[in-house]
Amino acid sequence: MSEILIAKDINKIYDEGLIRTQVLTGLDLSVRAGERIAIVGTSGSGKSTLLHLLGGLDVPTSGEIWLHGQCLNNMNETQRGEMRNQHLGFVYQFHHLLPEFNAIENVAMPLLLRPSVPIKTARAEAIELLERVGLGHRLDHRPGELSGGERQRVAIARALVTKPSLVLADEPTGNLDYDNAQSVFALLAELQDTMQTALLMVTHDRNLAAMADRQMLLKNGQWSQFDSSI
Ligand SMILES: Nc1ncnc2c1ncn2[C@@H]1O[C@H](COP(=O)(O)OP(=O)(O)OP(=O)(O)O)[C@@H](O)[C@H]1O
Ligand SMILES: [Mg+2]
Repeated sequence: MSEILIAKDINKIYDEGLIRTQVLTGLDLSVRAGERIAIVGTSGSGKSTLLHLLGGLDVPTSGEIWLHGQCLNNMNETQRGEMRNQHLGFVYQFHHLLPEFNAIENVAMPLLLRPSVPIKTARAEAIELLERVGLGHRLDHRPGELSGGERQRVAIARALVTKPSLVLADEPTGNLDYDNAQSVFALLAELQDTMQTALLMVTHDRNLAAMADRQMLLKNGQWSQFDSSI
């Protein structure tokens, strides 16, 4: 299987005058096509920091991140943005939908950032995905007019509308009750299977983590032995 993402010896230090915080230390990671990986770890262990770096939203202090054979390190902000739009989808704990736009517009947004995609096509693709996540009857609703689980399903549709090879999800079910969390995860997994998308998911939920192909435990910014019995 081919590797989509490779991170080598990643270090991240936040340096703010007298305060120097080493958050990630010598991390390696590789993600293969279609793979489902869960990252677990206590609060403050560096999970979100790692996802930000892998998604090109921030740069490591040292180490290399390769996405589809291209190194993100030496790219400028615009180039990293294009790599993100081309290859990645993001799902956050708190949906991050744009409140003034309806479900179709929110989902179509990543496609509308591509100059080559006509608005009509972007809307049609958004509608198709919203139907797949069971929201065909809520197309014109704004985030404020949707339930928490529905918002998260819109966020998943938005993450997948570009058919990315990798979805980075930071506690995608963290804000949902048990039933909604299960159904949102099942939906992610189903779409992932049909689209051959890899998933790298941060979760506090050990049950969800157990459903991934691979579980990784982050402890003080370093990989540690994952124990499924904890
Ligand atoms: N901009 C920053 N400047 C300094 N320290 C930071 C900054 N951002 C994060 N940190 C520190 O880095 C550590 C890791 O933060 P991170 O958000 O990656 O943790 P996390 O594992 O995602 O935690 P949680 O489960 O609570 O979301 C924390 O101790 C945090 O205080
Ligand atoms: Mg976090």
